[in-house]
Amino acid sequence: MTSGNRDGGGTGRGKGGATVEFRNVTKRYDQGQKGPGAVNDLSFTVPAGKVCVLVGPSGCGKTTSLKMVNRLIEPTSGQILIDGQDVTGEDVTTLRRRIGYVIQQIGLFPHLTIGQNIGVVPRLLGWTQARQLERSEELLATVGLEPARYRDRYPTQLSGGERQRVGVARALAADPPVMLMDEPFGAVDPIVRDRLQNEFLRLQQELAKTILFVTHDIDEAIKMGDLVAVMEVGGVLAQFATPAEILANPASDFVARFVGADRGLKRLSLSRVRDLELRPAVTARSGDPAAEARQRILADSFPYLLLVDPEDRPIGWLDQADVPGEGRLEEARAIPMSPLVEPETTLKDALSMLLDASVQAAIVVDKGRRVLGLVTVDMISAQLHPEARPEVLAPDAAAEAAA
Ligand SMILES: Nc1ncnc2c1ncn2[C@@H]1O[C@H](COP(=O)(O)OP(=O)(O)O)[C@@H](O)[C@H]1O
Ligand SMILES: [Mg+2]
Repeated sequence: MTSGNRDGGGTGRGKGGATVEFRNVTKRYDQGQKGPGAVNDLSFTVPAGKVCVLVGPSGCGKTTSLKMVNRLIEPTSGQILIDGQDVTGEDVTTLRRRIGYVIQQIGLFPHLTIGQNIGVVPRLLGWTQARQLERSEELLATVGLEPARYRDRYPTQLSGGERQRVGVARALAADPPVMLMDEPFGAVDPIVRDRLQNEFLRLQQELAKTILFVTHDIDEAIKMGDLVAVMEVGGVLAQFATPAEILANPASDFVARFVGADRGLKRLSLSRVRDLELRPAVTARSGDPAAEARQRILADSFPYLLLVDPEDRPIGWLDQADVPGEGRLEEARAIPMSPLVEPETTLKDALSMLLDASVQAAIVVDKGRRVLGLVTVDMISAQLHPEARPEVLAPDAAAEAAA
């Protein structure tokens, strides 16, 4: 049992989640009916510390599935186990203290300040005032809201994105091993949403909670999930796998349609520049003898010489045709720079940056902006056909194939 942080001791943020298992879970709202239930024989296991996204069209039973975990809804049959323990065997109040719950339009109490809203569960748990306050401040900072500015405000004084952050902070207050999140970022505009998603992923790296996350948006599912459960109407599990696996091998026509015809492109968002074998850049410094540099760039199949400064930081390109046979290289002739990318950049982002660059190679740089190598459009498009190169995008599959 994960109970270490429940009844005392420091206010420090706990790390780690609990295993959540659905075992043949079925829910029928209308007991008499013979038709398909809202949720139908759902079985899957989310390992401790992982994010599992339930995704599917409206009405496919996502919310129902989530609410059976904290028993806002009771299953008709089957079991849900947290660290092996059936939730129906547990006292509901105790159970819910171990499960954070975040919903869209989070329903903060309007007459309580932000600090008090976050302190609701700790207060119920009988924490001292001082400890409640300390925890509120810590959590506000955790979700990126400056405590001094926010703790005494009221929910209506906050933007949608800020309220959503408070909702996450409140759900984390008692440090639950399991979090349920039902379309948590559904009500905010796309830019705020992207930021909240990124913040949340960063936070999760630290906290490693077990998270069941509901969305109807396949892109959000791919971005947020370690595992994705694709559901179809009738509450049937269509596929349960990693995002990469679902995009590479959709289990049915339904899944293929649901993930979209651009699943190759989507898969690029799962790979990063560091997953590629970079093309070495042919570089030279401004003022170097031109003849030698010209020889080197003519010998390379890529037609642009990269000018770098004494620290190996890129300055610009020289078309090989413009590299003179004598004299010195001149910075003044350089073509403005291609996009700079880092090893962490996704291939999808690298591709979109390259599409309107004058030289279609991204320059990969390290934290100090020193050149590591090049990524070309061709290298990225090769990734769109993993059948030909299974070793790059799906190391597990490649290992299996080799075994
Ligand atoms: N309280 C309820 N009573 C009867 N039917 C319900 C109730 N809640 C949801 N349903 C039905 O169960 C199905 C699944 O709903 P829901 O879990 O909310 O789906 P989702 O969250 O995927 O949109 C839908 O057909 C919905 O109409
Ligand atoms: Mg729903």
